[in-house]
Parts: sequence; C-alpha cells; structure tokens
Amino acid sequence: METIQKCTSLLWVFMFALARSENVVITEIMTLRSTESVSPHCDQHTSWACNITSQDEPTIFLFAWSAPNKTALCELKDGHLSTHNGVNCVFKGQQLVLTIRHTKPIHQGQYVCKLRSNLGIKSAFTHLKLQECHHSLHVHSRDGNSTCRARGVYPEAHIHWFQGSKNLTDSSVAHPSVRDEDGTYEIASTLLHRPHSTLNCSLWSPSSGRYLSSTRTREEMTPPESSRANSYGTNGTVLAAAFTLHWDV
Ligand SMILES: *[C@@H]1O[C@H](CO)[C@@H](O)[C@H](O)[C@H]1NC(C)=O
Ligand SMILES: *[C@@H]1O[C@H](CO)[C@@H](O)[C@H](O)[C@H]1NC(C)=O
Ligand SMILES: *[C@@H]1O[C@H](CO)[C@@H](O)[C@H](O)[C@H]1NC(C)=O
Ligand SMILES: *[C@@H]1O[C@H](CO)[C@@H](O)[C@H](O)[C@H]1NC(C)=O
Ligand SMILES: *[C@@H]1O[C@H](CO)[C@@H](O)[C@H](O)[C@H]1NC(C)=O
Ligand SMILES: *[C@@H]1O[C@H](CO)[C@@H](O)[C@H](O)[C@H]1NC(C)=O
Repeated sequence: METIQKCTSLLWVFMFALARSENVVITEIMTLRSTESVSPHCDQHTSWACNITSQDEPTIFLFAWSAPNKTALCELKDGHLSTHNGVNCVFKGQQLVLTIRHTKPIHQGQYVCKLRSNLGIKSAFTHLKLQECHHSLHVHSRDGNSTCRARGVYPEAHIHWFQGSKNLTDSSVAHPSVRDEDGTYEIASTLLHRPHSTLNCSLWSPSSGRYLSSTRTREEMTPPESSRANSYGTNGTVLAAAFTLHWDV
C-alpha cells in the first residue's frame, strides 16, 4: 500500500518536471531580440536590428517596426516589405534592420518590433537617445552690440561671453530660444556695447555641465569684405567653431 503511494507521488513529481521542461522548450521555439539602445549623434545614420531566432523557420504573418508615436515605419506582410516616413528597412536572414537617415531629437523614444507568426507572437524594444549636438556658433557685431547664435542645439543650452578671462555673461541678454520642427533649438545672446574687442562666445550645456563649443571674434579693420567664416567640423562629433564678423557701419 505504502509502496503504491510512494510510486504515485514519484510519478507526479516526474510528470511535473516533464511539464516544466516542456514549457521551457515551448518558450524557446522562437525568440525575438532587438538592440537594447542606440545613442547616435544628431544628423547621423542610425541602424539597428530585430532578430528572429528559431529552430524551424517561422511562417511570418507580420514583422514590423513602429515609431515611439506608434506609427508604422516598416511592415513585412505577405512577403512584401513596405516602409513609411522616410526610414529605410531591410529584411534579410530573419532580421529586420531599421535605418533612420538623419537622426533628430524628434526621433527619440522607444521603438517597437513586433512579430506575428505560426510559432507565436513576440515583441522587442529599442530605446533611442540622442547625444548632445549643435551647429557652429556665429558672432555678428553691429553698432557695438555683438550677437552670438547657434542652431541645431540639443538639448537646450546657454551662451556665455568672455573677454580674456573676464566673464561678461551678466552684461548679456539671452534671446528666447526657438524650438525647431526637428526638436533642436536655436539660441542667441546679445552682448551690449563691446566694440573693438576680442570676445569669446561659448556654448554652455547645463545638462552635461560643460562648454560644448566656443568661438572668438577677431578684430578686422577692413570693412566690409572682411567677413570671414571658419568651420572646424560640422557634424556634431567634433566641436564646431566658426565666426563671422561684420562691420555694417
Ligand atoms: C542580430 O543578428 C546579427 C547577425 O547574426 C547580429 O550581428 C546582431 O548582433 C543581432 N542583434 C541582436 C540584437 O541580437
Ligand atoms: C510619428 O513619427 C514618425 C517617425 O518619426 C514621423 O514621421 C511622423 O510624422 C510622426 N507622426 C505624428 C503624428 O507625430
Ligand atoms: C544695441 O543694444 C542697445 C541696448 O539694448 C539697443 O538700444 C540698440 O538698439 C542695440 N543696437 C543694435 C544695432 O541692435
Ligand atoms: C560666467 O557667468 C555665468 C553667468 O553669471 C555663469 O553661469 C558661468 O558659470 C560663468 N562661467 C565661468 C567659466 O566663470
Ligand atoms: C572661451 O572661453 C571658454 C570658457 O572660459 C574656454 O573654455 C574656451 O577655450 C574659450 N575659447 C576660445 C576660442 O578662446
Ligand atoms: C565627423 O567628423 C569627423 C572628423 O571630421 C569624422 O572623422 C567623422 O567620420 C564624421 N562623422 C560623420 C558621421 O560624418
């Protein structure tokens, strides 16, 4: 009697273990994995993949990437791949690779990869966060006032002024920043009544607590053909510095 009971409970344990292991096998029939996060520079191409891993090749009903605002970016349906909103998509070797050509602040957020197949329904997520970026700084002088501007700034930053080691920021007036359609900011600051002196206009990022870029005005005594511009890299990887000095007298 006792032996039968023992046998029965052993059988239960065995069956439970079998059920569990079967369960594990079932969940591993197919996995969907995407790049966890990407952090490109502004305006760069960004590519990342969503991969299907399975023992048997699944029959795909839908394989798609959608944007943080939930709009479909690319969809593989009935063997046909369609793309929307100016992105690029490639389906190759059980991977759906999404490419954004000029990454902007508005592209930030969580992207969703979805798969519906005969082996099940899965989703995977990729977080896109941009690095700091800005275009060149430009200084424009007029009637003794100097105005320094920067476009394509992200996140929002401030302009500080220096003359040698002297900090002149408190004598400047910051213009209200303007948010562009792409999510970057245009910022400007005017320094009042500082004629004929070499000034340093610097871009201060409160989010990273450092100066991202700076430019210096140089004194040019021959107006107005003396307008010049220098640019050391404009792609956001390299700190950009440029200046234009006008004498509109
Ligand atoms: C997707 O597959 C490709 C090629 O096998 C591999 O290089 C890449 O790292 C994979 N990505 C993820 C997120 O698993
Ligand atoms: C949603 O995001 C896509 C891709 O970033 C963009 O092209 C589209 O204009 C956005 N749609 C809305 C309604 O915001
Ligand atoms: C320079 O700044 C002063 C003080 O704000 C202003 O009155 C003047 O109009 C400015 N000059 C120019 C050319 O912007
Ligand atoms: C310059 O002055 C501004 C405004 O007072 C201040 O926020 C900034 O930290 C100063 N920068 C340096 C390098 O002293
Ligand atoms: C301008 O001033 C900033 C802050 O003091 C400094 O980091 C930067 O090197 C200066 N740039 C130039 C071109 O002098
Ligand atoms: C940015 O500029 C640097 C130096 O000019 C270059 O090495 C890099 O490849 C550029 N990156 C892009 C995305 O253009």
